Amino acid sequence: MSEVVRNLLSRGDLSFRDFVEVALYHPESGYYAQQTSPVGREGDYITSPLLSPAFSFALARLVREFVSRAGDAVCTIVDIGCGDGSLIHSLWGAAGDGRTRFVGVDRALERVPAEVRSRVEFVRTIDEIPRGGRHLIFSNELFDALPFARLVQREEGLHELWVTERDGHLDWSERDAPAEYRDYFASRGVALQKGQFADISLEWGAIYRDICRVVDEGLIVTFDYGYPQSKLFHPRARRFGTAAAYAKHRVSRDLLADPGEQDLTAHLNFDDLIRAGEELDFTTLFFDRQAVFLLALGITAHGLFTPVTDLAVENLSAGVDLLDRRDAAHQLVLPAGIGHDIRVLVQGRGIGSGWSFQQTFKDQTKLEDAHQK
Ligand SMILES: C[S@@+](CC[C@H](N)C(=O)[O-])C[C@H]1O[C@@H](n2cnc3c(N)ncnc32)[C@H](O)[C@@H]1O
Repeated sequence: MSEVVRNLLSRGDLSFRDFVEVALYHPESGYYAQQTSPVGREGDYITSPLLSPAFSFALARLVREFVSRAGDAVCTIVDIGCGDGSLIHSLWGAAGDGRTRFVGVDRALERVPAEVRSRVEFVRTIDEIPRGGRHLIFSNELFDALPFARLVQREEGLHELWVTERDGHLDWSERDAPAEYRDYFASRGVALQKGQFADISLEWGAIYRDICRVVDEGLIVTFDYGYPQSKLFHPRARRFGTAAAYAKHRVSRDLLADPGEQDLTAHLNFDDLIRAGEELDFTTLFFDRQAVFLLALGITAHGLFTPVTDLAVENLSAGVDLLDRRDAAHQLVLPAGIGHDIRVLVQGRGIGSGWSFQQTFKDQTKLEDAHQK
């Protein structure tokens, strides 16, 4: 990867956005082109589906609810940015009925094991998702993995950050930001303060629109690290943007170090998705923290939420293993960590409301009780 980057830089500087594209998605040496998954306990960072089976258990409840409300319509359950395919495979295992289609989409499918490929259909682009019937489309940490630009407001105007080679090292440079980034902020009424950084992807809205176009009738359920716009561009709370690099479960701000060896990510502007969906006649049915969503779906019915006093274990090592797995399941919904930091957006078209995940709005006390447990 260092050679790929140096070759590119010998022809001229790269915008940081293009640097991220190469570092993450270069077909041979990009971060996501690796055969072994960078996601998981042994990898660089962990995601909800790989943290605990309780996540797919809760989502399988939604799949069954969705299929049972679809009548005669054929349902297609999709996971976009499916990584190694483990979530869509678990959903197939828990809620497959021989009629419902299960599809995984990822631009890098190298990490999907052969036995999973034989059970679930996999495609590389959103365009290839089978059309017709009803769609239930999930994504988990797709948008925070899209290449993003890094911008900074200077006295003389908005600048974009670029990558250059200086004395054999990768270094930053700045240029006037192209009109599309200036328009991005102007059209949203966002004025960055002098010295304030912001990390944005024009693909957030574009990819979400592509997803909306697949769905005649159905739900789009997006799990991701992100904020509503007013928080994402808050001049004090996020003065330095949200860009971060992850390697071996450590976060760093050294975004140019070891290209291809570390994950590069930025928090998404959820308002871009909400607006894109609503412009295409989708209704926003839910937007809140992951913990609230999973509790409403009934995640606490999973065995890993059984009270400790009701558990029987055969020996010490089985007990320790069970406590570990319980801990992981609880992290999905605890206020500190992934349950709090990840937000869930659900938008629907042509399928009404009254879904189990919406009970949060009606019966907050019940949810808070579940949270206490
Ligand atoms: C952070 S990983 C999340 C993987 C998985 N969803 C999980 O939760 O463990 C992001 C995934 O999105 C995929 N991806 C990025 N851009 C994509 C696109 N435009 N279409 C499909 N997949 C994409 C990447 O290849 C990567 O596997």
